[in-house]
Amino acid sequence: MKHSSIPLPTQLLRKIRRALLNWYQINRRQLPWRDTRSPYAIWVSEIMLQQTQVTTVIPFFQRFMQRFPTVFALAEASEQEVLKYWEGMGYYRRARHLHQAACIIVEKHDGIIPQNEEELSTLPGFGRYTVNAVLSQAFDKRLPIVDANVARVICRLFTWKKILQSKETQSWLWSTAEAILPQIHVGDFNQAWMELGQTICTTGRPSCLLCPLKFYCQGREFANQLPVRNEKPLISSEYQRALIVTKGKQLLLAQRPTHSSRWANMWEFPTQIMDSTDHSLSKVNKQCQKLTGYSVEKPMLFNTIQYSITRYRVTLNVVKALWKSGKSHQREYQQLKWILPEQLHEYPLSVPQRRIAKLVLGKE
Ligand code: ADE
Repeated sequence: MKHSSIPLPTQLLRKIRRALLNWYQINRRQLPWRDTRSPYAIWVSEIMLQQTQVTTVIPFFQRFMQRFPTVFALAEASEQEVLKYWEGMGYYRRARHLHQAACIIVEKHDGIIPQNEEELSTLPGFGRYTVNAVLSQAFDKRLPIVDANVARVICRLFTWKKILQSKETQSWLWSTAEAILPQIHVGDFNQAWMELGQTICTTGRPSCLLCPLKFYCQGREFANQLPVRNEKPLISSEYQRALIVTKGKQLLLAQRPTHSSRWANMWEFPTQIMDSTDHSLSKVNKQCQKLTGYSVEKPMLFNTIQYSITRYRVTLNVVKALWKSGKSHQREYQQLKWILPEQLHEYPLSVPQRRIAKLVLGKE
């Protein structure tokens, strides 16, 4: 694709390259995935870092690597256990893809992560970013990466004012990132962009005075207006109701379908999206029948939880009810299980559902 940029002068690129690498050698943070050249560890870290901040990722990464130290250990584990180790980080599809890819690597590649771009990109979860991040950091392959940090730094550096999400901008970003790459230390260089974006060239108020690229940056004066983004989608309200159905000491837990767009294969208290205006408890029995097949009685409002997900602000009503009768069905869920409260920790739950579990256990 053609883009309207002027080719970047070689001299300038050389200076930027050198300044950024020098800065990174001195200022890089000590992060657990930076002490290794293991493609497996780098891959796990890159998947975790895709939608989660560095400081949040660190303890998750350490626990994950302790439990699944090799691609074999990951492939041997159940998806449920992998999800359990991912619990709290969100975007659980990442974990499912990681596990699926580990199984393929063990079955088809003798447990060795392919070093070839084409082969790697056929595996679940390996888009251009992940392929290049793993191959550049583990094997120093000369491949660029563009994530939100890199995009922000490059748009500012060269005052790119077109909409970030456009095809033209994306194509320009990838080719610019490639043009600037050094011949060696490629993995470090790719991480240096990200480090600069996370610590200096930040979204809100960049610290331009501390920036190693300040003498080359064309966007310094209006850095906080770049990159130009599409308008954010409006926040919508959503109402949900979760049912804590009890039978004696047991609680009813349900496993979400494999093809759900949110929280696939994870567990929850049977939950339904509600009409925003109807908060009465008269429909609880009908709801429970629809979700599970069971009839319930004596519904009682137990709690209300608020949380945000993507562009939704969700109000989640939690209702307790007693099991009365009926046979379960599997129309809405893959499985229903009666469990004891002390077994709740064994099941992978989303953050809001874990909050309900804590309320049930009297821990919140
Ligand atoms: N974000 C994505 N990859 C990263 C890395 N290797 N270090 C820090 N932040 C990152």
